[in-house]
Amino acid sequence: MLTDILTPPTLRQPQPVLNFDQARALGDQHGTPLLVVSRSRVIETYRTMRENLPGVELFYAAKANPDPHILKVLCEEGCSVDVCSYGELQAALQAGFTPESMLHTHPCKTDRNLLDCYAEGVRWFVYDNPAELDKIARLTPDVNLLLRLAVSADSSMINLSAKFGAELSSAIEMLLEARHRGLNVRGFSFHVGSQCLNPGDYEAALAGVRRVWDEALRLGFELEVLDIGGGFPAPYRDDRLMLLAEFCQTVSRGLQATFGDLPVRLIAEPGRGLCAESVTLITRVIGKSVRSGTAWYFIDDGLYGSFSGKAFDHTDFQLLADNPFGLPTSPCVVAGPTCDSSDVVSRDQLLPELNIGDLLLVPTMGAYTGASACPFNGLPVASSVAID
Ligand SMILES: Cc1ncc(COP(=O)(O)O)c(C=O)c1O
Repeated sequence: MLTDILTPPTLRQPQPVLNFDQARALGDQHGTPLLVVSRSRVIETYRTMRENLPGVELFYAAKANPDPHILKVLCEEGCSVDVCSYGELQAALQAGFTPESMLHTHPCKTDRNLLDCYAEGVRWFVYDNPAELDKIARLTPDVNLLLRLAVSADSSMINLSAKFGAELSSAIEMLLEARHRGLNVRGFSFHVGSQCLNPGDYEAALAGVRRVWDEALRLGFELEVLDIGGGFPAPYRDDRLMLLAEFCQTVSRGLQATFGDLPVRLIAEPGRGLCAESVTLITRVIGKSVRSGTAWYFIDDGLYGSFSGKAFDHTDFQLLADNPFGLPTSPCVVAGPTCDSSDVVSRDQLLPELNIGDLLLVPTMGAYTGASACPFNGLPVASSVAID
């Protein structure tokens, strides 16, 4: 409709990066299941974040999706990268990132992880406990450290302070522990939790961090880096989120209100927010049945594959069927390809009658999907292809 063209969108909903004709052509060429990465969508999202988080350096959290297509585009755009392991570091190196543009954010590393990443040239690491400081002092004492702090954020779907992060009340003690070992703490990091739905949560967390920062300055610590982590959300099934630009502007105002008076190097580590919407899954119906009067469709990807985000990441994905003539839809069960009965992708979405060989498109498939997939049952995980 003309009004759709003239009116800019005001809400973020799941949108595929390709249509069914393109999907059929790519499916025939590459096979399914297939994760399709839109380079232009990655670039657009990256630039939106850059423009609306002025003064904040973006370190893409490779854990969300270390797909070489995504890493390469972001590297070419001038993004930096957050890695947690030697494997993520290698993926980033192959995409063109240099060790100087990497921040290692795992607060509890194995000796091997620490030593291998250090040997490649990474010099920025994160800690949140004294035992990690012992490790760092023993193996790599000349690195720059950020102290990860735990913060609470009510609106986030995944609490990333449940496992990592020193309590704000113990932050000074953690700084003193580092000083005692002769280690160099250069700032703080925190994570409001993944899929944060209220950008105001950042300001609340920042206010607490600022109190600790001021106390640290009084004690003579020379802090210069503030890392606000990830958390930037993406639209999943039935979501109507505020636009990414608006979300970032609110975070930016929170930064200004809490740290605007200090000469701080600001960093963010967006994972999901940068990559989720840039990928659409093409999956194919491989079987069908009727059980107790309900249609069941079996597809070639499932909970052990690209839909692993449903199990680990608490996300629910929108399934789209090609229905140009508006055929009636009805409730059905859509199940993955493995022998596990729990491998069910959806029990409550309305779809038209499907036939074996039909394709489904699944938008917002870029974060914590292929990254956490495994080849259970000897079934290969989805491959990926990039389009412009
Ligand atoms: C330390 C750290 N930084 C960044 C991220 C990326 O978070 P998000 O995908 O919510 O942006 C994560 C996610 O687990 C994380 O643990």
